[in-house]
Amino acid sequence: MKKGLIIAIDGPAASGKSTSAQLLAKKIGYIYIDTGAMYRACALKAKKLGIDINDEESIRNLLDYIDIRIENNNSKNRILLDGEDVSEDIRADDISALASAISAIPAVRYKMVELQRKMGENGGVIIDGRDIGTFVFPDADVKFFLTANPEIRAKRRWLELQRKGIDKDFSEVLADLIKRDNNDSQRVLAPLKKADDALEIDTSNMTIQEQTDTLYRIIFPRLEEECKCS
Ligand code: DC
Repeated sequence: MKKGLIIAIDGPAASGKSTSAQLLAKKIGYIYIDTGAMYRACALKAKKLGIDINDEESIRNLLDYIDIRIENNNSKNRILLDGEDVSEDIRADDISALASAISAIPAVRYKMVELQRKMGENGGVIIDGRDIGTFVFPDADVKFFLTANPEIRAKRRWLELQRKGIDKDFSEVLADLIKRDNNDSQRVLAPLKKADDALEIDTSNMTIQEQTDTLYRIIFPRLEEECKCS
């Protein structure tokens, strides 16, 4: 039996998806699923094994013995790769580009999408990524597409790196982000794209609280409806 709505949040890097998704999930008692973390875990595994990201055959073989799990703790995700908690390691700067590259390999996508559908099929989930509303759950109950201008998104990412003590030029952060957006939107299978029925929200000039409140105001009536029906 379905335990609630499926809420999809897509958008480019640093558009505010995961922050809002986590806060919302906590507020409404839903499970948060960070699908980007799953592609990051695949990329980390390839890196650990010294596999070139362009070597599709070796990547396909790797999928036969990869174990990726997401544990929810207070709406925060812990990512387990082959039983090891890699939640911090997958956030390393080089993993972002590797995750984007590995996510374009069809075998990787099919495997991750299968896991994502299993995790979300019963509802009661907020799931964020690039292709949730278009490909993973095209019938999701609520779909958002978050955007923000590239400079503002790069500034968010730059500040995040600074907080971690990583000193990277802003111009490099911006260039990496634009390159990743292009890779993600131009791949053939399930590219980053707004679903026709998704609500687009530009978070450029919103605080985290404002963007979360905006999403909540839209979700709230749907939650009420769902309660009445179940
Ligand atoms: O959301 P993120 O930055 O952690 O995602 C890392 C990469 O994973 C992103 O550049 C593209 C890929 N990704 C994807 O292809 N599909 C998803 N649903 C989520 C992420």
